[in-house]
Amino acid sequence: MKRRILVTSALPYANGSIHLGHLVEYIQTDIWVRHQKMLGSEVHYVCADDTHGTPVMLRAEQEGISPEDLINRVHREHAADFDSFHVSFDNYYSTNSEENRSFCEEIYSNLLKSNLIDQREIEQFYDPAKKMFLPDRYIKGTCPKCGAKDQYGDSCEACGATYSPTELVDPYSSVSGSKPERKKSTHYFFKLSDPRCESFLRKFTQQTDCLQSEAANKMKEWIGAEGASKLSDWDISRDAPYFGFPIPGTNDEKFFYVWLDAPVGYFGSFLNYVTKKFKTDAPQLIQEFLREKTNTELVHFIGKDILYFHALFWPAMLEFSGYRTPSKVFAHGFLTVNGQKMSKSRGTFITAKSFIDNRLNPEWLRYYYAAKLNSSMEDIDLNLEDFVSRVNSDLIGKYVNIASRTAGFIAKYFDGRLSDRSFEENEILREFISKSPQISKNFEEREFGKAIREIMALADKANVYVDGEKPWELAKDETARLKLHEVCSISINLFKLLSVYLKPVLPSLVREVEKFLNIDNLSWIDSQKLIAPGHQVNKYQHLMTRVDQKHIDQLISANTASLEQKPNAPDSKKEEKKMSGGQEKVNSDEDEPKIDTISIDEFSKIDLRVALVKNAEHVEGADKLIKLVLQVGDEERQVFAGIKSAYAPEDLEGKLVVVVANLKPRKMRFGESQGMVLAASGDDSGIFIVSPDVGATHGMKVR
Ligand code: 2FM
Ligand code: ZN
Repeated sequence: MKRRILVTSALPYANGSIHLGHLVEYIQTDIWVRHQKMLGSEVHYVCADDTHGTPVMLRAEQEGISPEDLINRVHREHAADFDSFHVSFDNYYSTNSEENRSFCEEIYSNLLKSNLIDQREIEQFYDPAKKMFLPDRYIKGTCPKCGAKDQYGDSCEACGATYSPTELVDPYSSVSGSKPERKKSTHYFFKLSDPRCESFLRKFTQQTDCLQSEAANKMKEWIGAEGASKLSDWDISRDAPYFGFPIPGTNDEKFFYVWLDAPVGYFGSFLNYVTKKFKTDAPQLIQEFLREKTNTELVHFIGKDILYFHALFWPAMLEFSGYRTPSKVFAHGFLTVNGQKMSKSRGTFITAKSFIDNRLNPEWLRYYYAAKLNSSMEDIDLNLEDFVSRVNSDLIGKYVNIASRTAGFIAKYFDGRLSDRSFEENEILREFISKSPQISKNFEEREFGKAIREIMALADKANVYVDGEKPWELAKDETARLKLHEVCSISINLFKLLSVYLKPVLPSLVREVEKFLNIDNLSWIDSQKLIAPGHQVNKYQHLMTRVDQKHIDQLISANTASLEQKPNAPDSKKEEKKMSGGQEKVNSDEDEPKIDTISIDEFSKIDLRVALVKNAEHVEGADKLIKLVLQVGDEERQVFAGIKSAYAPEDLEGKLVVVVANLKPRKMRFGESQGMVLAASGDDSGIFIVSPDVGATHGMKVR
């Protein structure tokens, strides 16, 4: 029976760019989906932007635009990024949609009817200046253990201690800088501790085949032993102001927490898609895919950091509100680059857009990730040196090489026609065909690395065959035309079979191969067939260029963060860790930033001057900036510096600093910034202003 599968990837947050860490998941899912579609399964692959919550609300405010304008802009950027990496969603939608709202309201009302919603008063930090409750990540203060300043509410980056925000000394709101108060508010809870939920979740998480075994074990730990459940109720509400859906019956004072409406967004996107695409059949598809599970599957691809939501909260919500539960939750690990977490200072925090803008081929990355991926939750490493050599040796040296070594002869001597002979009995072709089920199984089981190894072993064999037959020598001998025709036709058949196997990974390249082979839309069944004898192929065009180390160097330097703080860039590392979909691995990060060499002439173009801080003050509405008035010789300049997390204005006045005096002035929301103050920073260790030694005076040139 034909499989019918609704597939999702996790919804990226709408306040940041797609980067190579995110792409691990989208490329993994896309390969899986494409393989299923090639097999003839009915697959619907949906996704959306995860648009709600405080960070989006604050970011929009910071940019001076509405949250709707922000999420629309980001939606366009995300959709373009996915498209350029050939991620083939059937629908890419938004959680800020009417479809999503109606699912959320219905699910909530059903949970309410099932008596699984509770109301309770809780006490939280409140920002009296912004008149809003503060999520923990917006509270900073002095570490209660080591006294380091400006630490986040959950852990200290200086000494590594973890604590709760209430333990911080001199806490302040990183939104307004004001001292937060403790304030009570009624919140709504999903009663996960209810015995019905507990018993359902025990069964759900331990059923075979839904979770990977490592994930099932984690769940066992999280749920706790029978009779000693660790499940606690889940706070699903947030107080206004909040960008999200109001909870019905709360006078727009309470909103659904973003993590409630995010997974429901999978359904919202599916409803939007079937309504557009299948019109009158939409209600039936909704029924079959979202309500029943007898002949359909619901498959989620996620990062291991959001297992809790997908293996506990989400299935329980569905189970008790009349919906079907997931068939599979596939969790993958994080991405490291060159063995370390992605880092802005090293230039390895690489956005999808910059990969494309620096003219790297997205299919190089698809191939490399495929070669590295397996079905476990282990992290995968993008080693850039290995990336260059692997792509060049496998894709160019092995795969494309087979066609480029033989296609020319077919065109030159045989008018583009393959031999009339049937090669059904050819041993090497039979071997290639025989691998089809195993390779398919590897794709199905997300053992992409194994699939690639099998495919490349075949590519090696094809090259050994060509090397052995030496078509370039046969071509010199007019009496060997028949043999040349056969050898090249067999080679083109081998190339076609490899192309079928690689199509889920390299969809765009294989589209070009299809044009060359003059075959429409290769599907998995084509891995069981040879090209018809006498088939006419088209002119061979070069299929792929090599990766050059220069590409990588360019990419790294384009992504190397400058010390200048962009006013609206997602600035704090903390925020990235929490909001990148966990695609980033957190580990130590000691290396120096990578810097390309420059000539002394290039360096001397930068006019560095000693400057005296005459005045320093907070900037209303900016949570990172301090406005500095600098005296540089006879000149006075105003500079906005992103150093608020490390310095109080009063500590800066009277200090000598170094300023880039010939930096093009930049208009900011708060005024013009006329230069840049130099500061040192590592990835995890704060900001340190650079000062000249005693004796220097303002106006002096630094060289
Ligand atoms: O962790 C994240 O990046 C979330 N935006 C993922 C949401 S997935 C789903 F639940 F919507
Ligand atoms: Zn500390």
